Amino acid sequence: MNYKQALHNPIFEIISKAAQEIGVESYVIGGFVRDFILERDSKKDIDIVAVGSGIELALKVSELLPKKPKVQVFKTYGTAMLRYKDIDIEFVGARKESYHFDSRNPVVENGTLEDDQNRRDFTINALAFSLNKENFGTLVDPFNGFEDLKNKIIKTPLDPDITFSDDPLRMMRGIRFATQLNFDIEEKSLASITKNAERIKIISGERIVEELNKILSTDKPSVGFLLLYKTGLLDIILPELTALNQVEEIEGHTHKNNFYHTLEVVDNICPNTDDVWLRWAALLHDIGKAPTKRFNKKQGWTFHGHEFLGGKMVKKIFERLHMPLNQKMKFVQKMVIMSSRPIVLAQDTVTDSAVRRLVFDAGEDVDNLMTLCEADITTKNPSKFKKYHSNFDIVRKKIIEVEERDHVRQFQPPISGEEIMKLFGLQPGREIGVLKEAVKEAILEGEIPNEYEAAYDFLMKRAKKLGLAPVSK
Ligand code: CTP
Repeated sequence: MNYKQALHNPIFEIISKAAQEIGVESYVIGGFVRDFILERDSKKDIDIVAVGSGIELALKVSELLPKKPKVQVFKTYGTAMLRYKDIDIEFVGARKESYHFDSRNPVVENGTLEDDQNRRDFTINALAFSLNKENFGTLVDPFNGFEDLKNKIIKTPLDPDITFSDDPLRMMRGIRFATQLNFDIEEKSLASITKNAERIKIISGERIVEELNKILSTDKPSVGFLLLYKTGLLDIILPELTALNQVEEIEGHTHKNNFYHTLEVVDNICPNTDDVWLRWAALLHDIGKAPTKRFNKKQGWTFHGHEFLGGKMVKKIFERLHMPLNQKMKFVQKMVIMSSRPIVLAQDTVTDSAVRRLVFDAGEDVDNLMTLCEADITTKNPSKFKKYHSNFDIVRKKIIEVEERDHVRQFQPPISGEEIMKLFGLQPGREIGVLKEAVKEAILEGEIPNEYEAAYDFLMKRAKKLGLAPVSK
């Protein structure tokens, strides 16, 4: 089959010419080919294999380009990269071994194109388009990758035990592709993932998280998390999640399975946000439930303080997986800690002051928190489902109302501590904090609006109670 139409970008002609000039064969391989055949929007990356030196080819390509872009050379790994317009092009020489994917190991031995295709992760990623003059655009597919694409199958070109031991991250990549593309993993490959799951331990947290983020960024992340669970990988990567997979019964009282509930929440949130950190919050919102679970006759099952403990666990997970410990982590923590607040609100009659407090505590993240909590409604009882959602609508409306009136989202006290000191001739001390807190409470409770005049009158009355009198000017 010929795919010339995939290669209309003039860069391919240039690579072809460069390869011819230095006397090597060249091919586009991997994701570009796969995504073209799938008619999928491809990311802006192109992988080129040279049967010979990839570095030499990259240097030649740069020479032929009018702007002579800079070539980044990674000598130890035998790879080179250059940027053409907004595309990153990576050049590699064909190998007999696949060590270069886990770029810690140096190049071993040069090989043919087929050797190289053999050592790639999946048949659907081993497809190549020829860039050689005599058969430009021809699909080179020694392992039936095309068939596997059509049949939506993820399968390794070699015995999966070999492919996965070459780079154990591929186990996660396979699950990630299955989730992104809605493909099945061939039985033998899946069994091999289960068999080799422990090997994921040698992979860095950063690479694992990259795959988790890609799974979380799909429309239905539960597909990937169920596969991670089924193969035993999840137990190694995120045991806090698999610990939620239990249902206990004591004296006829059961509790819901919080693992499956969590996956439902993650799927639910996807249509409403593309923010991968909010999706992480959905994934981790209940992790405190396993360690806080208790049973008592009066209340049945309880999970007291699970949000707070969950928040602490978020930090530990981020540390363990080498995730950023910056404001993203703080955001996920905050969402987990506050994750029950709107639900509690929506179960009752919604009062202005409760909403005002929610907005005050959540600040700029209040809308994200609402999105998380709406996704958390997984009840199968239709009347409860309706009630919670309509209460959430009320909460959302009230958030807008109280925000218009009191601006508590980024709360600034209407009277500053300094002014209080001046008004009453006070030195810095406890009373100022007490008075400021009293004004803030009055605003949050709705006793007074968040305005200077009202706050001033309130302050005067409260100060009088404390035996303070304003100093005359
Ligand atoms: N590859 C591999 N084993 C890995 C990583 C990559 O065999 N552990 C090969 C595959 O042939 C893959 C190509 O290198 O197609 C490029 O890898 P990468 O850019 O990571 O992935 P893509 O397949 O291009 O897809 P995506 O960008 O969606 O991850």
